[in-house]
Amino acid sequence: MKQYAWNKGMAMLMAWLWLVVTPMFAQDTILRNGQLWPDTEGHHINAHGGNILEFDDVYYWYGEQRPDRGYTMDGGIAVYSSTDLQHWKNEGLALQLSAEPGSDIERGCIMERPKVIWNEKTQRFVMLFHLELKGRGYEAARVGFAVSERPTGPFRFIRSTRLHAGRWPFDMTEKDIEAAKQTDAAAWHQWWTPQWMSEVQKGMYLWRDFEGGQMSRDMTVFVDDDGRAYHITSSQENLTLLVSELTDDFLDFTGKYNMVAPGGQNEAPCIFRRGEDYWLICSGCTGWAPNEARMFHAKSIWGPWTQLPSPFTGIATGYREMPANKTFGAQGTYIFKKDTTYIFMADIWNPRHLARSLHLWLPIQFDDEGVPVIPWTTELP
Ligand code: GAL
Repeated sequence: MKQYAWNKGMAMLMAWLWLVVTPMFAQDTILRNGQLWPDTEGHHINAHGGNILEFDDVYYWYGEQRPDRGYTMDGGIAVYSSTDLQHWKNEGLALQLSAEPGSDIERGCIMERPKVIWNEKTQRFVMLFHLELKGRGYEAARVGFAVSERPTGPFRFIRSTRLHAGRWPFDMTEKDIEAAKQTDAAAWHQWWTPQWMSEVQKGMYLWRDFEGGQMSRDMTVFVDDDGRAYHITSSQENLTLLVSELTDDFLDFTGKYNMVAPGGQNEAPCIFRRGEDYWLICSGCTGWAPNEARMFHAKSIWGPWTQLPSPFTGIATGYREMPANKTFGAQGTYIFKKDTTYIFMADIWNPRHLARSLHLWLPIQFDDEGVPVIPWTTELP
């Protein structure tokens, strides 16, 4: 009798171990939306605001390596690698801060939203990122360029710059240019009045920064099917997006650019192309706090862009309830493709401990008309 009870107990224990404990270690359930994401050494993946690049059957994940406290950088841009998008090996720093005082990327600067793309012509990996110079808060508003022969780096910093000094967007007419030249940013002390917005839409900040170059903060890069690459950034005091063509080596701007949604206050741009449709998903502008996403559609990278409602639906569960109209508590950073699935990648910012900000990956679905829909799910694709 005793033996029978013991056997039964053992059987139940084995069943419990099988049903409850095994799934905790199962290969395919390591990363779940709403939880910390351990790398292969068990540390939460510290790569934020970044992107994924697939190269030779390996995925590389680049992102801001954030200190546990504070906002300025003490390391640089991190890179992780994986073959299955589940097990991520920390490959160290792809781009390291400089020890040289006065360097654009010296310790204490802010590097955000790094994006790495592969240049087929030069056979190099190119990184673009948002750079803020040491001790100047967010006023420098520059883009940085770095290059490497290997995906894990070390990337060499080339330079940082503002955009398009002395150049008008290619699609502005003479009349538009004259109207912009009549604006005067210094005369406006009160923002958000209808008159102020009308001046913004005429290009008030474009004109203010015309000589010194346009601001560039939240940014992404996009390589189109023909191999041409574009930089998309939040400019003009984060009020207007700029789309700019990159040179063949991706290390500079050709000078061709235009504006998207002037005065629309779009940040965190994420873009993808599906067939002949270009989709741009952005956040509003509330710093680290989540807000409702916006979506734009165009048939060409140069627009015209039409605004549509946010593609997010449902309510985030599993970590805290966050509705779709707060983008589930997250802010987008990139959209990459796994086989035929587009995956929206975002950060659930934790401003007190930026390093511990969570990651959110959601597969994009499409409705009958081919419009993106992004429901909440805890499972990764
Ligand atoms: C967010 C932006 C982040 C970071 C932050 C600073 O709006 O998307 O990349 O710049 O503001 O407050």
